[in-house]
Amino acid sequence: MALVTQERLIRPARNIYGSLRLPGDKSISHRYAMLAAFAKGTSRFTNFSTGADCASTLACMEALGAKVNRANDEIVVTGVGGRVTPAAHPLDCGNSGSTMRMISGLLAAQSGRFELTGDESLSRRPMERVRKPLEAMGAKITLTEGHAPIEINGAKLKAIDFTPPVASAQIKTCVLLAGLQTEGTTTIREAVRTRDHSELAMRAFGAEIQRAIGSVSVAGPQPLGAIQAAISGDISSAAFFMCAAALFPESNLVFEYLGLNPTRAALLDVLTALGVHVAVLNLEERNAELVGTVRISAPPKGLRSTAITGALAAQLIDELPVLAAIGPYTGGGVRIRDARELRVKESDRIALVVKNLRAMGAEVEEFEDGLDVPGGQSLHGATIDSAGDHRIAMAFAVAALRAEGDTLIQGAESAAISFPEFFELLDLVTDR
Ligand code: S3P
Repeated sequence: MALVTQERLIRPARNIYGSLRLPGDKSISHRYAMLAAFAKGTSRFTNFSTGADCASTLACMEALGAKVNRANDEIVVTGVGGRVTPAAHPLDCGNSGSTMRMISGLLAAQSGRFELTGDESLSRRPMERVRKPLEAMGAKITLTEGHAPIEINGAKLKAIDFTPPVASAQIKTCVLLAGLQTEGTTTIREAVRTRDHSELAMRAFGAEIQRAIGSVSVAGPQPLGAIQAAISGDISSAAFFMCAAALFPESNLVFEYLGLNPTRAALLDVLTALGVHVAVLNLEERNAELVGTVRISAPPKGLRSTAITGALAAQLIDELPVLAAIGPYTGGGVRIRDARELRVKESDRIALVVKNLRAMGAEVEEFEDGLDVPGGQSLHGATIDSAGDHRIAMAFAVAALRAEGDTLIQGAESAAISFPEFFELLDLVTDR
């Protein structure tokens, strides 16, 4: 999706309070869109992600033969019943790594030739990680120097037992989607548990999935049916507001109908460790996903310190930029390690967080797999280079709230990749 470049001026804030009901979770929306488009029958979703990434997934699935009706508050998807139509043109995955990696698995087991392309950022991201398992299953995958464009020549696959080289829900999902269509039992093993939306979603659409500690298996082929779902609010989008609220001693922010899947909710533990008051109310289950109300208020005496390493770094991978960006305002600092994957996201997020924190006057130390942000620092407003990365733009809009002077976020339009309403909602809950 072509977006016009925009700058946003963020003025310092006095407090953050209010109540928010956020657009649907990006990870869940991708998976529901793909599975519904692949299933037999008509699925209906409310609160589907408003981000451009999920629009990319829907458009790709439409190009593969699914019918998508974008009504007012509802997305209605009629699936192809297990057989996609090879698209006449390359499938454009835009900025979305999830779209490209997960659809690759779906298409590897289909007959025909498919081409997947993406924008400049996506075309730099590593795709060898999906080529390897899919070729081991028998598909022919051609990359361009390890990256997109990807050419997929689908085939009748054979089941594999696979351990991804990096902790990645996208790789796991890619192999599960191929395994779902393949005779025999396909198993994926992971030392670090990654988000399990695919396992829960595949079950919700009627598939049988076996789960054990450290592994997930699917015995294929299995058909999928349609579902109806109200998608829970995106906790990775909420993270920006939670971190903003953590900075103001009088803050009080409520999130209604927020996704609280335990493989995504580690942020609540980190905030609690920092001293933030986190209350979870009204927990319920929707299509096997936990949903609830969360209330956040900052500690009167300021934030403590936190160290995010090991498995926690993988689980919090999308939240690390904003946690690092508020690091200077904590008492004891934020230390992040074992997060090398941050270097191959939409941008090199370690390098950009370091660069932009320094632009705001912070002291910060960069490591190959993370960074150390000492606490007790005051920042000044600056011009922020988001490099078109949505999470960098939003993370520094949060850091700007406690800085002295105004901050200019360049490339602010990138927020629309996951969260088009971000700046509007930030204004809504900010007291200046
Ligand atoms: C996602 C998994 C993560 C995450 C991305 C969404 C998903 O990527 O960073 O924003 O929906 O499965 P990896 O699986 O590559 O770690």
